Amino acid sequence: MISQATIDRILEAAPIEAVIGEYVNLKRRGANYLACCPFHNEKTPSFSVSPSKGIFKCFGCGKAGNVIRFIMEHEQLTYIEAIRFLGNKYNIPVEEKEETPQEAESRLRRDSMMVVNTFAQEFYTRHLWEEPEGRDAGLSYLQERGFTEQVIREFQLGYAPAGKNVFTQAALAGGYKQELLTSTGLTIHYPARENMPGALTDRFQDRIMFPIHSLSGRIIGFGGRTLRTGKQISKYINSPDSEIYNKSKSLYGIYFARQHIRKLQKCYLVEGYTDVISLFQAGIRNVVSSSGTSLTAEQIRLIKRFTQQVTVLYDGDDAGIKASIRGINMLLEEGLQVKVVRFLQEDDPDSFARSHNARETLDFLEKNETDFIHFKISLMADEMKDPLKRSALIRDVVESIAIVPDAITRTVYIEECSRHLDIEEVILTREVAKIRKKRTMGFIQVSSPLSGTEPGESAEPINISPGKNDLSHCEKDILYYLIKFGQTMLNDVTVSDFIHNALAEDDLELQDPFYARIFNEYTDLNGDNHARKKYFIHHADPVVSQHILDLLNNPHPINLKVLRDSLPLEETLLKENVIKAILVYKLKIVSLTCSRLAQELRQVQQLGEEDKIQSILKKLTVMMDVRNSFARELNRLN
Ligand code: CTP
Ligand code: MN
Repeated sequence: MISQATIDRILEAAPIEAVIGEYVNLKRRGANYLACCPFHNEKTPSFSVSPSKGIFKCFGCGKAGNVIRFIMEHEQLTYIEAIRFLGNKYNIPVEEKEETPQEAESRLRRDSMMVVNTFAQEFYTRHLWEEPEGRDAGLSYLQERGFTEQVIREFQLGYAPAGKNVFTQAALAGGYKQELLTSTGLTIHYPARENMPGALTDRFQDRIMFPIHSLSGRIIGFGGRTLRTGKQISKYINSPDSEIYNKSKSLYGIYFARQHIRKLQKCYLVEGYTDVISLFQAGIRNVVSSSGTSLTAEQIRLIKRFTQQVTVLYDGDDAGIKASIRGINMLLEEGLQVKVVRFLQEDDPDSFARSHNARETLDFLEKNETDFIHFKISLMADEMKDPLKRSALIRDVVESIAIVPDAITRTVYIEECSRHLDIEEVILTREVAKIRKKRTMGFIQVSSPLSGTEPGESAEPINISPGKNDLSHCEKDILYYLIKFGQTMLNDVTVSDFIHNALAEDDLELQDPFYARIFNEYTDLNGDNHARKKYFIHHADPVVSQHILDLLNNPHPINLKVLRDSLPLEETLLKENVIKAILVYKLKIVSLTCSRLAQELRQVQQLGEEDKIQSILKKLTVMMDVRNSFARELNRLN
């Protein structure tokens, strides 16, 4: 039995449109989303997703249900497995039992902590608006900075009064338990020492208060900014990490921004609280902040629930920019499309938005947005003349490109980079492939079973009978392009090199022994397309020659536009089709691995081996992500 509380938590954390959006291409239609149904074949979309109701429904085939049902259908999982799958994906622990008394207690405790925070927020807000101290110091400061009453109210800003324990006294008098005040970090407890009595002190004194909201809008922590300028006092004090607040996992502003990020399919990432609020006030609402810390994988995943596109906004000053480049690499690694805007000298998003109107701000962002390659190159423009530094820069850019999980995006970046740095694409492609090869974590492995499989728990190998199954169909397609167009140039790589690199990247070799043999033989040949084709057509082995003739005369590329009889068109679409053929192939391999993992999961679940369940689930989740990103890419190309 999985408790209702767990299920509720999953339903809250896994927005149906985000989950389904990973599988199908959702288009917005008013309050709902529309797509072609993944459960039956159709040309006009009749599959609808309602975020507000949390359900999907296909008017064609009648399939309908909530997000759990969708995963069950799509992944062919049982109810329990689907819940575990989503729990794993959204970091919600799923215990297959009733909530224990301790768990219930901890949930209640978390709730109480958020209630205390709400009390604190109301206290601080009241002090900002109603107490002379707050009005004179806090409110006038915020207004001088140009924040409107509306935005101050919306972000629930407040003011923590000066004095040792004004807040703590008020909270205790209001009946809030001391323990909750200290565990939320609002109050600091100094225990008694030799000749000093113990004391309860407010953490936030004489500061402007910025409440930090969870995704669902509950207050999980605070940041407090001092108005004093002295060096010895820290500009911001933040709530400590607690059961409800984890600085490295939260994004300031996410609650206000989430629906705008989803709608606009873009997220601006800024440094601080005030940047978020200023941009918001200028009408740019798809903005969040990592609160001055360097970006973490958890924060990136939070963004990824809503969009794949992130634009990082950097202050004008150089300080820290080079360090924050790490953040860009992390975004790339998570498969996000990264753009960068850099402000001029003295500006940051906050000051810019304050000194320009909303239109100008948006214009500036749109005009100055560049991809990360431009950004890196421009950062080091001065160093470009020095050959040593230049090669370090090239290395650096190539390494970033190698991080990008998606092959097509990588190709685009390589083209870009080649143009800007004036280096041949072939060279860049080879370097990127080399780096990727080193990095491949043995993700996609067909011949040997599961990566990291312990001895004795070996999985079924994929059964390949030459030329018969789907996988060999894919391989046949690849061979088709190799033999017919292998020496044709795609930008500055030959089709043959392109295919080799693409396979090498994921450590793949053709699985069908017969095809693999032809593939290797091709590699050793010399000559143009015509010469090589001729070699195979007149091959010493009649089986090979028969196969090649058959291949060239009856191409049946799966999932590709079939273009027999229209050669010019086939050449125009060559690049796209080769990329597709490889994507389809990789997708197939990953899908097979997923099914095998799902099957294994079923087995270990029957045995109830919790450790193995977790480890297989982890792998399955990773593989499904890989698979979905391939599928999405294909979708985009079709
Ligand atoms: N920060 C922090 N602790 C500090 C300094 C900064 O937590 N001692 C975080 C805050 O989240 C802050 C962000 O880093 O919002 C950016 O810092 P900074 O640019 O100094 O602050 P701003 O919020 O931009 O404040 P202001 O515009 O008022 O200078
Ligand atoms: Mn700032």
